[in-house]
Amino acid sequence: MSDSFNTYESDFQLALQEAKTKISQVESVQGEQRQSYLKAIEAATDEALEALDQMGIEVQNLPTTQRSSYNTKIRQYKSQIDEAKAKYKKLSDSQDRHELFGSRYRDEDGGAGGLNGVSDSQRKQLLNNQSSLERSSQRLQDSQRIALETESIGGNILNDLRSQREQIGGARNTLMQADTYVDRSIQTLKKLHITFITKDGQQYTYEVAEGDNILDIAQAHNLDMEGACGGSCACSTCHVIVDPEFYDEIPEPSDDENDMLDLAFGLTETSRLGCQVKMSKELDGIRVALPAMTRNLQNKDFN
Ligand code: FES
Repeated sequence: MSDSFNTYESDFQLALQEAKTKISQVESVQGEQRQSYLKAIEAATDEALEALDQMGIEVQNLPTTQRSSYNTKIRQYKSQIDEAKAKYKKLSDSQDRHELFGSRYRDEDGGAGGLNGVSDSQRKQLLNNQSSLERSSQRLQDSQRIALETESIGGNILNDLRSQREQIGGARNTLMQADTYVDRSIQTLKKLHITFITKDGQQYTYEVAEGDNILDIAQAHNLDMEGACGGSCACSTCHVIVDPEFYDEIPEPSDDENDMLDLAFGLTETSRLGCQVKMSKELDGIRVALPAMTRNLQNKDFN
């Protein structure tokens, strides 16, 4: 083996011996001297460990076949230094407790160990702290329970919302279907026809539903029909001249309608008020003319 290994081994043994000596003496000293001994033990064990590490490095440089016996020796040394360090740690912890609690602390080796001489007020304070911790723990448990309940309520609300969304979706589908039926019904109803002849002679034919009155039809298609009274048979601004071919198919005018027709400009034998004439199957294909202020429409206007 190299001189270096022997040197490190010698250093290790000296340092370990120093640590063991101080460990055996430290119980007999107090105060600063005790602290000084503890520092010396710590330094000696650190120095021994450092020497041991160097010895390990030296062994690594040896051929594999020669390492076994040296490794065995290093393990033995490691066990010895670990034992010394464990003793040092125990002594050091004991010193810390002495510094913290003074004479109220006794080492485990010296008896029961732990705190002695703690005053009643300190005990009460400890009990109060424990009680406070228990209350805090209880509050945490309550908070956890409330959180779980809230989570459960939130889950129920989500389920309700999901159910309502499905119901709304179903209602929307029903409405869309109903809308389709209404469209079909309108198409079915709008199978009557009416033709308007305007003042300038233009003709417009529209598909309308049974029950529609002529005033509403004209206004829905922006034709020039005023309808000043809104269809209450109180004016004559919805005056139309009906194709004689259809005139007799229209129910007889009421007295009110006749009174208003008497006031209409350009009255003819087939004049009617548009708001009083409703479309029926008998009137399908009816033609009506819008009277001109300057022209008195006659039957020939429909030819
Ligand atoms: S709108 Fe007045 S009577 Fe027809």
